[in-house]
Amino acid sequence: MKNEKYWETWGDEKLQSFQEDFIEWYEKEKRNLPWRVNLDPYRIWISEIMLQQTRVDTVIDYYYRFMDWFPTIKALAEAPDDKLLKAWEGLGYYSRARNLKIAAQQIVTDFNGEMPKTIEEIRQLKGIGPYTAGAIGSIAFQLPEPAIDGNVMRVVSRLFEISDDIAKASSRKVFEEAMYKIIDQKRPGDFNQAMMDLGSAICTPTSPKCDQCPIQKYCLSYEKNTMTNFPVKSKKLKPKDVYYIGGIIENKQQEFLLEQRDSKGLLANMWLFPIKEVSKERFEFLQKTWGKEEAQLSLDFEEPLLVAEENPEIFEEYDQVVWQKRALGEVTHIFSHLKWHVLVFYGRQTGTLTTNENQIWSTKEEFSSYVFPKPQQKMVELYKKESRIEE
Ligand code: ADE
Repeated sequence: MKNEKYWETWGDEKLQSFQEDFIEWYEKEKRNLPWRVNLDPYRIWISEIMLQQTRVDTVIDYYYRFMDWFPTIKALAEAPDDKLLKAWEGLGYYSRARNLKIAAQQIVTDFNGEMPKTIEEIRQLKGIGPYTAGAIGSIAFQLPEPAIDGNVMRVVSRLFEISDDIAKASSRKVFEEAMYKIIDQKRPGDFNQAMMDLGSAICTPTSPKCDQCPIQKYCLSYEKNTMTNFPVKSKKLKPKDVYYIGGIIENKQQEFLLEQRDSKGLLANMWLFPIKEVSKERFEFLQKTWGKEEAQLSLDFEEPLLVAEENPEIFEEYDQVVWQKRALGEVTHIFSHLKWHVLVFYGRQTGTLTTNENQIWSTKEEFSSYVFPKPQQKMVELYKKESRIEE
């Protein structure tokens, strides 16, 4: 039934019974989630931003803390940047947090401190696209607007055998059209959330649990046993590999050197051990020549270091440092379009290393007061493992 708009064949009666079955199921099965306790648009907005790219289970603790730290739009508009990033630490996609604050400031200045109530106005806020506007509009203000994300496209593509490629932005239109047709006009927020819950619990990507599905009898792909042919999705490009060396440098006071990243770009303003990009060839060479050492080394500060005869070159600027004759290991981390490979070295400062304004010496105990992105957290873990520090 390629390219047929199967929802157009639904009459009023079928539509109504579909909505009733679906909402009834949602009432019975809906999860108790902290952003479902009331219809406060601020609470709903924050949850929808956190839930982009992040699983419900992960979001819950972050959500409680965020609401505790920034209980109102005004508090968010005035949030200190470092505290805001701290609240987001580990969630990734940090521009989401930065945009939240900008949007909160917009609400204070342009909308008298209150969340706007129309889709057009909600869309004007920084960081809010069609999905988030639809979610806030439908859940907080009962506007009959769809909230279309990957889960919803999976459900709807199966329901109507829609074969448009969901990886393409141009396919959005057809999903919108179908959703506008089927959304419950009286309870659009519940309808959208029923879609989300169905997509995450039942209409799952690889083996959908159709025997538990409340809308099985309306589902065209169930009828034809074609569920797993949908959604149609072209392959994403592989993330680009980038290679770094990282240096964990300890001074005589057993403090570690941290460097703050630039205020623009990936991981803006966040703190990491010094890292430096190298070519793939250089990375592989270092991995071969520095990556192996038979004995497990102790990084106990009281014990002498098995020192390398040479600086691993790439760290020339830290000339007052001796390096351990073995890399600690490698950490990797995937951002949306990049895969970082970091080969991590351990060194001790011998002379005095003067710091600039983007560098700081920190004890291990103070690490928690900085905002560490995931690759940095992984480097700290690697260090702890290799140094056999129990914590
Ligand atoms: N995913 C995105 N938004 C959600 C919501 N409101 N409830 C559950 N899962 C979601």
